[in-house]
Amino acid sequence: MKPILTNSRILVTGGAGFIGSNLIETLLSQDNKVICLDNFATGKRKNISGFLDNSNFKLIEGDIRDLATCRTACSGIDYVLHQAALGSVPRSIIDPISSTEVNIMGFLNMLTAARDAEVKRFVYAASSSTYGDSKNLPKVENVIGNPLSPYAITKYVNELYAENFSRLYGIQTIGLRYFNVFGRKQDPFGAYAAVIPKFFISLIKHQRPVINGDGSYSRDFTYIDNVIQANQLAAVANKPEAINTVYNIAFGERTTLLELFNLIRQNLIRFDSEISSIEPEYGQFRTGDIPHSLADISKARTLLGYNPEYNIASGIAAATEWYWNNLHVN
Ligand SMILES: NC(=O)c1ccc[n+]([C@@H]2O[C@H](COP(=O)([O-])OP(=O)(O)OC[C@H]3O[C@@H](n4cnc5c(N)ncnc54)[C@H](O)[C@@H]3O)[C@@H](O)[C@H]2O)c1
Repeated sequence: MKPILTNSRILVTGGAGFIGSNLIETLLSQDNKVICLDNFATGKRKNISGFLDNSNFKLIEGDIRDLATCRTACSGIDYVLHQAALGSVPRSIIDPISSTEVNIMGFLNMLTAARDAEVKRFVYAASSSTYGDSKNLPKVENVIGNPLSPYAITKYVNELYAENFSRLYGIQTIGLRYFNVFGRKQDPFGAYAAVIPKFFISLIKHQRPVINGDGSYSRDFTYIDNVIQANQLAAVANKPEAINTVYNIAFGERTTLLELFNLIRQNLIRFDSEISSIEPEYGQFRTGDIPHSLADISKARTLLGYNPEYNIASGIAAATEWYWNNLHVN
């Protein structure tokens, strides 16, 4: 990957998670010093075990709900890439209080600590869920609907706080509204696993993946390397109009769940021909799911120079190699 952000001290919160650990891997390979703050709520030790011997890497095991911990983590930092949160719409519907405590109070602690440490920029994981019930397609940053879940509320509140802090205190912030990110290290296990790793694990185990609904719902699935690129560009962006705002981070195409299933199955057949006969099962539509999601990424292209290198086909091909090598047991 082309180096964008080098020779800096970077704090990645949620660095033991899917996106955070992938960010750290790239940042370390490009001569940065990286601090990871994580409490392993959903993150995995194995995601960061490969960095522990690297003298440019430091782990702070702690909770963003604790302001003192956030202050320690922000000390001497150039850039914060804030990924820590309790993800998952269904989780937040079952337990809105935990999602709110981590995603709002934790966020506010991090923003406060970053402000007081005078970091150069605070880049944070926002979410496409902020578009809520808006029917507009493609989604453009300045048109949002009503939130459909507590999770979506928390992510929107993050945007409001970031904008407010930049106005009141001058801290530079950029929010990245990720759209259905996928790729290596994304956890296929647990009640709140995302659809792509769930399809991979089912097919590899010769089980029938469950599609929620009739397979016609579509998403703008975004490969992890595009998200890594966006985070780095957001840290270094220097046009004044590029800062203190939010961006859609996606590929800019939508794929239905049935097309996704077929693509994953077709890729896995290269490794195991028996998978070709597995058909999906169809379940209920999920509460809070919107039928279609598609990003307009022109704002990120114009102001950040974002140029996603992986589309769904090349992203799924790369992810297939990883899932097969890591999940398949003879
Ligand atoms: N994966 C996606 O498709 C997607 C889409 C939109 C937004 N996001 C956002 O991107 C970010 C990263 O998501 P991910 O998919 O890597 O999820 P993840 O669950 O793999 O990573 C989140 C990390 O945050 C850590 N964490 C949770 N609570 C914490 C706390 N109180 N203190 C410290 N660390 C804590 C977890 O242990 C985990 O390592 C999240 O903010 C998420 O809301 C993800």
